[in-house]
Amino acid sequence: MTQAPFPAARFRRARASAGRRALARETSLEVGDLIWPVFVRDGENMEEEVPSMPGVFRRSVDRIAEAAVEAYELGIPAICLFPYTDPSKKTKDCAEAWNPENLSNRATRAIKAAVPEMAVMTDVALDPYNIDGHDGFVEDGRILNDETVEALVKQALSQAEAGADIIGPSDMMDGRIGAIREALEDNGHRDVMLLSYAAKYASGFYGPFRDAVGASGALKGDKATYQMDPANAEEALRLVERDLSEGADWVMVKPGMPYLDIVARVRDAFGVPTFAYQVSGEYAMIKGAGLNGWVDGEKVMMESLMAFKRAGCNGILTYFAPEAARLLRGS
Ligand code: PBG
Repeated sequence: MTQAPFPAARFRRARASAGRRALARETSLEVGDLIWPVFVRDGENMEEEVPSMPGVFRRSVDRIAEAAVEAYELGIPAICLFPYTDPSKKTKDCAEAWNPENLSNRATRAIKAAVPEMAVMTDVALDPYNIDGHDGFVEDGRILNDETVEALVKQALSQAEAGADIIGPSDMMDGRIGAIREALEDNGHRDVMLLSYAAKYASGFYGPFRDAVGASGALKGDKATYQMDPANAEEALRLVERDLSEGADWVMVKPGMPYLDIVARVRDAFGVPTFAYQVSGEYAMIKGAGLNGWVDGEKVMMESLMAFKRAGCNGILTYFAPEAARLLRGS
């Protein structure tokens, strides 16, 4: 493309008024782009703030259902559940992960009863239930892959039985997408989607989340033998290709903002619905700086979400979902 030289071309002409800027805008952000991750705790009528995530709460199942109704009224299409499991329910065999009555499954049923149109997404990984704090079984300091996949299949089936619409394996074990997809088909769950955390990095940005789900204390060591090295991009493309070949419907990149190059490359290479997770540490940085008056919190929140769309995301998992939805709707 050739541009006329200055002054025939003046880019500022197109920026001279709000109307012109609106007409020239390349990217849009809508409430329908947002998936809201929420934390579930036990009890009734309970809501407690996560200290490292101001404005984010752990809610009891009844309060989750109420929040889902509000979110639906705001136009948010999906909620993603993360349980804060009582330490007494964390074991070596992680059996609580596939208990039909666990917090995540109870919350799924409660949301579906209160607002059936709300899509419920669930998390497949053993960390909330694991006495060792890892996403997989631990033996002699090693994270077992194939044994973990068998457990993840049980966990995913119990979530599908409870009514989950979208299952999100976030564990980074090899072979789990194929195994879960086969089990879902064999058990008649033909319409349950798999949104694979295909490119999930071993990141320091998950810190506040581990506080929120009570996994920080249990976790020994790091997750570098199963989550990705932040230095790698080619590997992300291979993982996305692998997960799609095993039956993932959609794919995710996580964390979000520091990895938007990966989002753009995935979207360009595969053209499949691509999601990113603006994780807890990203939320905490924006929220914390905003509350301190160091940045304009609302402006930075909306700018960050637009950046995900510009990079090629179809949707964004963000703790800002209700706040951003209110701003987008002007209410
Ligand atoms: C674990 C899981 C993590 C997150 C979602 N699922 C943390 C981890 O891998 O340690 C992080 C989300 C966030 O930081 O907001 N299965």
